[in-house]
Amino acid sequence: MKRRSRDEGARKTAGEWVAAVDLGTTKALALVARRTAGGWRLAGLGRAPARGVGRGAVTDPEAAGRALADALDRAVAGLGLARPGEGRAGLPPLWLNVAGEAVYDEPARAEVAVARGRVREEDVLALRELLTAACGLERAAVGLFDERFLAAPGRPLPEPVGKPAARLLGEARVVSCPGPLALALRSAAAAAGCEVAQIVPAGVASAWAVLDGEERREGAVALDFGAGTIDLAVFRDGEPVRAASLPLGSQYITNDLALGLGIPWMAAEALKCRHARVDGALVQREVPVPGGAGGTVELPLVDEIVLARTDELLERAGAAIEELCEGRPPAAGVVLTGGGVALRGFPKRAMEVWGWPVRLGAPAAGDDRFPAAASPAAATAVGLIACAERSPALLAGGAIQERTGVVAASRRLVAWLSGLV
Ligand SMILES: Nc1ncnc2c1ncn2[C@@H]1O[C@H](COP(=O)(O)OP(=O)(O)OP(=O)(O)O)[C@@H](O)[C@H]1O
Ligand SMILES: [Mg+2]
Repeated sequence: MKRRSRDEGARKTAGEWVAAVDLGTTKALALVARRTAGGWRLAGLGRAPARGVGRGAVTDPEAAGRALADALDRAVAGLGLARPGEGRAGLPPLWLNVAGEAVYDEPARAEVAVARGRVREEDVLALRELLTAACGLERAAVGLFDERFLAAPGRPLPEPVGKPAARLLGEARVVSCPGPLALALRSAAAAAGCEVAQIVPAGVASAWAVLDGEERREGAVALDFGAGTIDLAVFRDGEPVRAASLPLGSQYITNDLALGLGIPWMAAEALKCRHARVDGALVQREVPVPGGAGGTVELPLVDEIVLARTDELLERAGAAIEELCEGRPPAAGVVLTGGGVALRGFPKRAMEVWGWPVRLGAPAAGDDRFPAAASPAAATAVGLIACAERSPALLAGGAIQERTGVVAASRRLVAWLSGLV
């Protein structure tokens, strides 16, 4: 890439690039994509071991910032920039995910008076600001879903702009996370010298990477089974309507193996990834404990421990899905992502436990140069890029130049995201 003067370079870069980082329990995964005529094209992928983050909580923003910086540096290293540090600093504001049990949605209602008897764009924006504010001052809104407009109670007013009304009422579900968590994510980005464009619930991001149009319309659930969190998003009529995050994940299976077999945690992790299965196939074999600590383990015992915990996690996730779907089965089934779904037989077992259609979701990153982006574990990062793609302010070359305005007006940004994301 030809280097330009600092100002020109920054402006140009901001218009052409999008950057996202999935800060997970085990890894920071950064993606950098470039805008082309046909949409975004993946340009760089960088991975670094996670630090300062666990089960959605940012325990150490500085350490998280270092992991984020490492991942971003690796992602921009392939872009042909002179110095990776400069490359990272020249990126536009980042799209980040948020997870953990403190991420949830709740119903919100608000109303505004309509000037001159006809609804204007500003009325809708003002209403959305009130709706997002419903999560309270201690929380940060990260999504506004399932929005409905009314002229009066019981009188729906879809697509209200330009329609006659004296008042505009709104109902929606506002997704939020604790304010300090949003702040910690911004601090982590700041420690890496970056700004934040938008924070997206992890399950919603993953869903955008793997649900097809029909699934989004008919009503599917996306479930990202990570190391420390299970992130959920429910779609209906093409849009997300509910989001949740459970503080549970594949690490629980590793913990059980380590405790149950009395072996080091790293050995248990390797045993799970290499040998464990929940597909019911009985493999009568003994294998050495990984890591050279000595001793052997019987695989049927490994599978028994793994199956018991997997079933428990699936039951808890299933209960959460039922609650989010208000007792109805997910019409278009459940699409699984996250590193934990690599456990042999996991999708089939999920189908047996839930009784709903289940499929494995691999993100369509659309670029053979980055095979890691097509893995279910990359769904959150790829989905963050997909979210950015749906954002007109960030797609339009000029809008991002006013990026301080975009960031400051984050509530407004969240609001129009609801219509697009
Ligand atoms: N082959 C495998 N079999 C079983 N589990 C696996 C396999 N490969 C990876 N995993 C598990 O996947 C998990 C990592 O998944 P992922 O990368 O989605 O997590 P994360 O994004 O870092 O965490 P989270 O989203 O929960 O914060 C680890 O617990 C790991 O043990
Ligand atoms: Mg994850």
